[in-house]
Amino acid sequence: MNHARTVDVGGEIPYTIAIGPGLLGDGEALARHVRGRHVLLVSDSVVAPLYAGTVREALHTARPDLAIGTFILPAGEESKTLAHFGHAIEALATLGATRDACVVALGGGVVGDLAGFAAACWMRGVDCVQVPTTLLSMVDSSVGGKTAVDIPQGKNLVGAFHPPRAVFADTDALATLPARELRAGLAEVIKYGAIRDARFFQWLEQERQALLAMDGQALALAIAASCEHKAEIVDRDPLEKGERALLNFGHTFGHAIETEQGYGGLGNDNLNHGEAVAVGMVLAARLSADLGLAPAADADRLETTLRDYGLPTRIPVGLAPERLLARMRLDKKNLAGRLRLVLWRGLGRAEVVPDVDESRVLAVLSG
Ligand code: GLY
Repeated sequence: MNHARTVDVGGEIPYTIAIGPGLLGDGEALARHVRGRHVLLVSDSVVAPLYAGTVREALHTARPDLAIGTFILPAGEESKTLAHFGHAIEALATLGATRDACVVALGGGVVGDLAGFAAACWMRGVDCVQVPTTLLSMVDSSVGGKTAVDIPQGKNLVGAFHPPRAVFADTDALATLPARELRAGLAEVIKYGAIRDARFFQWLEQERQALLAMDGQALALAIAASCEHKAEIVDRDPLEKGERALLNFGHTFGHAIETEQGYGGLGNDNLNHGEAVAVGMVLAARLSADLGLAPAADADRLETTLRDYGLPTRIPVGLAPERLLARMRLDKKNLAGRLRLVLWRGLGRAEVVPDVDESRVLAVLSG
């Protein structure tokens, strides 16, 4: 843990996010969060061959008494289903996991969300340690305790709030991350600047080349700054009763795109989550400008930055605006059947806008 930066997340059960190289092999640090004797290591078919052995061995060396089970999902958003959730629960049962068991989620957002949800449900809740291996999961999904699976009607519609006991973001794991996945993670990093920190946004504009070239220091700084923003928000609003909704800037549009195209990502033409959020942020900024809430120049600046980072900024051809709007009506932020969206007053100033006129949304979706 020598070179790790740490970010503390407060709340009822505080925990620490460690960020730095070599954390996957730090068995002492990982094992410190295992209270009992049972560990279920959950990973996917891409990450497990790379890193599951390291984590298993590290845990075993630190705690030879541990019974360590492994559950491997096929890689991809398509696996974030109730059926695979059921298989994870079966793996816990086969392991004989008791109430002091620990689920270790090793992978990206799909693994973290599904493993976290299994931990939330097994025996009404056991510990979960998040070990994110993608930039996107390091800066967003591994922190804050949102866990879920998708159903055909929408993303993350079945889930629970279940904060982790600890998060270990090993920056060495980013070395094997495909460039497209790195850019998807950077979309979520840019989001923090867009919603609450114009100076950070400017830093991201300046450090683009270093970040895209995976400069270790720049990446660690970007991850730590993002986690600090997220920690501050979830500390004050763990259950998304207010401020936490701001983290969903671009997500209502983005989720609609993801659901409408069918969940996909790597290896096909569908947008992955970060890419869909990039498009969604531009749509949210455009809608804000159309509603007179924010300058159009800020929307232009956001779009230019995202494009410079190699991210998409337009809705993929073939997705019908009316169908996207129908998907948006199912968003969890909506209340009493009204569209409630995260928009902005300009760069660094996001806010929740209740009761947005659907015709104005449709106009932006059609634009
Ligand atoms: N990804 C948004 C949140 O954790 O609230």
